[in-house]
Amino acid sequence: MRKIDIFDTTLRDGEQSAGINLNTAEKLEIAKQLERFGVDVMEAGFPAASPGDLDAVRQIASTIKHSSVTGLARSVKSDIDAAWEALKVAECPRLHVFIATSPIHMTYKLKQTPEQVVETAVESIKYAKQFFPIVQWSAEDAFRSDPAFLAHIVEQAIKAGASVINLPDTVGYATPHEYGAMFKYMKENVPNVEQVKLSSHCHNDLGMAVANTLAAIENGADQVEGTINGIGERAGNAALEEVGVALYTRKDAYNVETNLTLNEIKRTSQLVSQLTGMVIQANKAVVGKNAFAHESGIHQDGVLKEPTTYEIITPELIGETSNNLVLGKHSGRHAFHERAKEMGFLLDKEALNEAFKEFKQLADRKKEITKEDLWTILTHQQLKAEETAIYELESIQVQYGTEHIPTATVQVKIPEGTVVEDACTGAGSVEAIFNALERIVDGKVNLLDYRVSSIGKGRDALGEAVVNLTFNHTEELTGRGTAQDVLEASAKAYLNAINRSLLQKQMEELVKSSV
Ligand code: KIV
Ligand code: ZN
Repeated sequence: MRKIDIFDTTLRDGEQSAGINLNTAEKLEIAKQLERFGVDVMEAGFPAASPGDLDAVRQIASTIKHSSVTGLARSVKSDIDAAWEALKVAECPRLHVFIATSPIHMTYKLKQTPEQVVETAVESIKYAKQFFPIVQWSAEDAFRSDPAFLAHIVEQAIKAGASVINLPDTVGYATPHEYGAMFKYMKENVPNVEQVKLSSHCHNDLGMAVANTLAAIENGADQVEGTINGIGERAGNAALEEVGVALYTRKDAYNVETNLTLNEIKRTSQLVSQLTGMVIQANKAVVGKNAFAHESGIHQDGVLKEPTTYEIITPELIGETSNNLVLGKHSGRHAFHERAKEMGFLLDKEALNEAFKEFKQLADRKKEITKEDLWTILTHQQLKAEETAIYELESIQVQYGTEHIPTATVQVKIPEGTVVEDACTGAGSVEAIFNALERIVDGKVNLLDYRVSSIGKGRDALGEAVVNLTFNHTEELTGRGTAQDVLEASAKAYLNAINRSLLQKQMEELVKSSV
């Protein structure tokens, strides 16, 4: 069976989504999970974007052993140098270099003639080949490029040394038939095409990214690119979990295989959602909360009589077990540690003990501790080990009554280590909390978005809050917090965003002073 390589760009194109900003520890967590999921290639970032991005790509490249790690570069030497600096530690360094090839992009963005674009592309590939054994070349906006010109530049890129040719639908404009036809055309009109793998890269502006990706496979693509949960610029990229499950479920139609471990989908999806703060819509294919819920009586009756009446994929396929209860109030330290190991968490002793403490506190208040709860606790501890908390929530008290003005009192540990207290009113409890916290963090906070959701099911499920804000006019930052109470989770999320903003500022100042 033909093998399709899966190229994940959650940490590059996905991270480019508005409001997403992952720190290095979070990127590493996602990278490790992508490796468990079995992606062939992961794009860890854009090293030339900032020293922080370069460092994150370097750390991922030196950690990941079973997936090939790549980084993006524009067709300029300084970008390629930055990518080499980040990726030279990788087992098999791979570069992803791109230039736009559509008339719109060449004229208005690059201000280069088609001949100049060919020359720049060839030069950049040749330069990259001095360092990288594998160079992937992308024709940005390939779908809106002139087919004859595209075939010509692809031929030159192959001659220059590219071993993977990526043909993106950068603006999500193609229909499946048209996108598939572009691959067929390349196969028929590029003389040296058999020397390389062709790759698809689809954006979802018209909701056709996954369909277009599958059409590319039908027409000769050997690699497909996408992101977990379909996150990415604007309407996002092709959702890799959907592509993987479609290829598996409709093997009869596509007759191809991948290296993906499908029962890691649920966990990968949850981790990406949790760390990016991008909530998954309930009816999203494969990973939405309702993806396996049969609501109507007729459907429920059918599934009870014979599951295949309405069920074409099972929750087990993606790793969502029906018996989600994993540990209870009386589970001991040993069982907890074993469970953490089984779930792939390699925490040091101190972090494990902290996680166990958190688990016991939750088990006292919650009847059943589910896999989702454990993921949340363990991920939190894993990341905490690498995060510096500048402001830490000590306690919170909220007074609310339909006839009274909501009032919040908060205690926060501040950088000097002392605990300060403040109180404030607001139109609602959350506003009162945020107002009180704003007085403590002493700066201008502009709240852009705020969401709460539950982790898992049940009335005693953990609550998760996500806030997007700017602090002292910096760029938009996302903060997350979990707790059994959504008000406490909200306060934690708010402080988490402030901490991230301050840490980012410290990092920028450090870089400035070292230049
Ligand atoms: O969408 C796109 O064209 C891209 C390229 C940089 C590969 O993301
Ligand atoms: Zn893209």
